[in-house]
Amino acid sequence: MNKEEQFSRLQYLKEQLHLHNYLYHVKDAPVISDGQYDQLLAELREIEGQFPEWVTPDSPSQRVGGYVSDKFEKVTHPSPILSLANAFNGDDLRAWFERISKLDERVVKADFAIEPKLDGLTVVLHYENGIFVQGATRGDGEIGEDITPNLKTIPTLPLKIPVDDQISNIPNYLVVRGEVFIDLKDFEELNKRQIEAGGKTYQTSRNTAAGAVRNLDSSIAASRPLRLFVYTIVAGDQSLPRTQLESLDWLKKVGFPVNNEIAHSQNINDVINICENWIEKRESLPYEIDGIVVKINDLELSENLGIVGKDPRGAIAYKFPAKEVTTKLMDIGVNVGRTGVLTPYAMLEAVEIGGVIVRQATLHNFDFIEEKDIRIGDTVIVKRAGDVIPYIIGPIEIARTGIEKEYQRPKECPACGEPVSRVEGEVALYCINPGCPEQLIRNIEHFVSRSTLDIVGLGIKVVEQLVNQDLIKDVADLYRLSKDDLMGLEGFADKKAENILTAIEESKKQPLEKLIFALGIMGVGEVVSLDLARNFGSLDALELAKKGDLEAIPGIGPNIADAVVEWFNHPANKKVLEKLRAVGMWPTKNIDILKAVAQLPLAGMSIVVTGSLESFTRSEIKSFITDNGGKVSSSVSSKTDYLVIGEKPGSKLEKAQELNVKILTEDELISLTNNE
Ligand code: IVH
Repeated sequence: MNKEEQFSRLQYLKEQLHLHNYLYHVKDAPVISDGQYDQLLAELREIEGQFPEWVTPDSPSQRVGGYVSDKFEKVTHPSPILSLANAFNGDDLRAWFERISKLDERVVKADFAIEPKLDGLTVVLHYENGIFVQGATRGDGEIGEDITPNLKTIPTLPLKIPVDDQISNIPNYLVVRGEVFIDLKDFEELNKRQIEAGGKTYQTSRNTAAGAVRNLDSSIAASRPLRLFVYTIVAGDQSLPRTQLESLDWLKKVGFPVNNEIAHSQNINDVINICENWIEKRESLPYEIDGIVVKINDLELSENLGIVGKDPRGAIAYKFPAKEVTTKLMDIGVNVGRTGVLTPYAMLEAVEIGGVIVRQATLHNFDFIEEKDIRIGDTVIVKRAGDVIPYIIGPIEIARTGIEKEYQRPKECPACGEPVSRVEGEVALYCINPGCPEQLIRNIEHFVSRSTLDIVGLGIKVVEQLVNQDLIKDVADLYRLSKDDLMGLEGFADKKAENILTAIEESKKQPLEKLIFALGIMGVGEVVSLDLARNFGSLDALELAKKGDLEAIPGIGPNIADAVVEWFNHPANKKVLEKLRAVGMWPTKNIDILKAVAQLPLAGMSIVVTGSLESFTRSEIKSFITDNGGKVSSSVSSKTDYLVIGEKPGSKLEKAQELNVKILTEDELISLTNNE
């Protein structure tokens, strides 16, 4: 390239980087991968290195991320919220160490704090006299946005410190920095619920967290499972810890959530080892990290080393090899879910990402394909995080050759060929044919699963065979299967067939709530099923329930009420019910006893159990609580009335303490039920 070409390349890079920076930080909707962004930035830096006179104050190289948007009040940070320089391998780390050793000889003997680099959103939290008064985004590093109401919804964010009144010496004024993120499993769960409700799935956990934190409506933040780790003391008006590790200990002690995965290292070789070991270990973490942060432990020394641009010299980010790759989108397939929701997935040219061969990836929903203009034949960016399903980030438009084909969303269900329909107000497409074989397979899978009727031995492979060979046309047909039917299937012998038939027969003893849950009515999960069983006592009564009767039950809103009424009105479902009754799969609950539920000692109480128990097994304590009128829930929230703890209670106890949830031992729970 001659000088003129280089200059125009520089202009182009600047424009691109501004755009992608905006899409990532302001819109929370990136269209290129982090790796590609880094490449563009590296190229810009290279040209600017050659021609320093071309560096302008507005160059993306001079500012690291984050426009200040106008939506929120602005907050000036007490000191700049800095970024970090990157290292991509051991040599880069060693080069960093040698560079700073030359600047200050104390570095040679320095020790290091090594922390996972969370892939979330930086937040800056202000405390006055121990009270959380304000929280801000990073913004441009100098000025952020006031997102206090959103942050207050994060359960682990202490609204007051110290948590333990024994600790004294809390600064009157304290500012800390941390990262907001979402656990991978919580993210998957969130998307599962979105799909079941016919909504749009979220694309990445980082953007879902960022979108919530930066939303004007704080109920969005409240509805997403946000987590926080705090890792830096930004400012304070008292003598503060002198090392990074002491800071983390102090933060933890006064009540901040602090990552436990922190290492202490005495020399750079050890640092490099630890960082490299993390490449594999990262998979074992419940949240996504995109690297490791290496920090000089001595804070005075670190500060003394100064800053280059926006990056402090005393710390560096060791970035993992990207878990994003590009590959070819061969075709787009469509899955049919239990409720008939159609979801598109990418069929890819096989590609390795972080040691795993990937052939399929989720495309979220049909709107996503259109919004990103993803075409069959495109080169696409695929990302894999933790052990969740890989997903498509978007196409690389400049790689198009012109033969790519635009995708048409399906007009017919790929499994049964019936026309698809779209429910008003929802993004999802549905197959509404109750006889659709794929839906039936998913339905039976749910019907027999552990959380519903727990019919052991009926794995997906068997279910597929039963449906494909026309042995069952609905869930009730399970109860009409004969030994001969099963023996005709692949891989079946006497014993296996008998075991399955026994398990099917046994399922008739399951309580009514399990059967209601198993029916797969939209919005009717474990908790609603129990409410319905307790209030109606039988499927006969539930079948006759009007919308108003259903809505009269606390916790059941108009959508669920509609779904229940609709389900029972559907002719195909009526037929299934009739068949279930005929085969004797018709559990009931004694309604007179039920009427008395409201008087039971734990009526209306939401209870969480944690730790290993002495007098109960897990299912015993569940029955004990429900028999006494209470509800068992799996996670602690502000709606929890009691947390019952056994040995080694773990994180639920911490959460309960933060939320001031009453804590009971097993004995206390028992005596509570005796004190009528
Ligand atoms: S220290 C000057 N520690 O990574 C101190 N950052 O590229 C700089 N991050 O914007 C930050 N986990 O959002 C630090 N344990 C950690 C971190 C961490 C995640 C993020 C942070 C920052 C970015 C740096």
